[in-house]
Amino acid sequence: MRTFKVLLIAAIALAMVCATAFAVKHLPEERGKAHFNNPEFAEGNKSCNSCHPNGKKLERAGTKKEFRIMGKTQNSLEEAVNFCIVNANKGKAIPEDSDEMKDMVAYIKSLGRKAAPGYGAPAYGAPGYGAPSYK
Ligand code: HEC
Repeated sequence: MRTFKVLLIAAIALAMVCATAFAVKHLPEERGKAHFNNPEFAEGNKSCNSCHPNGKKLERAGTKKEFRIMGKTQNSLEEAVNFCIVNANKGKAIPEDSDEMKDMVAYIKSLGRKAAPGYGAPAYGAPGYGAPSYK
């Protein structure tokens, strides 16, 4: 009986660990982050992360309607992502309704949530980080 209980608890613990690992990897923003860090994403030759380390400065991209990248205007986040894929990563544009694009967009939007005041630890440079400024 004792052995059975121990085994049962071990099985439950294992199931919980698996469920957590499974859930985390299957969040769209987690998959998008993996694409963001992958130099071979969309057949490119460098990662998005090499120019946008940890998505820095993309925090507002999730709410913007117009993007100015390398002198050209893009009218949606999807267009901006494809513009960088083609012109910066030297890869091939991906369909706007593809899972890869949805995951990438989810990751970029998550950057904005993380930078917003009140979300977890304040991001470096975000309002409220460190000493107050009296400007
Ligand atoms: C060779 C460097 C380079 C690479 C690689 C690159 N980008 Fe960019 N990206 C830029 C530059 C330059 C801009 C123009 C705005 C700026 O200076 O941040 C930009 C702008 C953007 C913007 C618009 C930001 C805004 O708020 O206007 C998005 C979104 C973006 N990149 C996503 C990506 C994604 C996704 C990838 C990978 C597929 C990627 N970038 C790869 C250089 C790069």
